[in-house]
Amino acid sequence: MTGAAPVWTALCPLDALPADQGRAALLPDGTAVALFRLHGGELHALGNLDPFSGAPVICHGIVGDRAGVPVVTGPLGKQTFELATGRCLEDDTVRLPVHDVRLTGGVIEVSARRNTVETLVG
Ligand code: FES
Repeated sequence: MTGAAPVWTALCPLDALPADQGRAALLPDGTAVALFRLHGGELHALGNLDPFSGAPVICHGIVGDRAGVPVVTGPLGKQTFELATGRCLEDDTVRLPVHDVRLTGGVIEVSARRNTVETLVG
């Protein structure tokens, strides 16, 4: 049998997450995620570790858009990542891990399963 069901972790009520700002959270396995709620209601969860510095700072990034595509720019202002895919716009070989997010009864839940595995750290 393959493809174990994703494990969902309840993180916080939707209302606790300000629009267009990141918040850090830890999954039970110790994975640090950066959670974003866009003003349009879209939710994204990405790995919180900045692949370039190795520091857990993606949650402090600046949310914006590039040609209509939602992005987060790391707090150092150098690298920008697509929120939906984790792709780094400056370096196509680098991606942030992307987690599935869902809303259950007004509570944000994040999956431990990563959509991408191409993360380079360090
Ligand atoms: S949101 Fe608290 S450490 Fe980034």
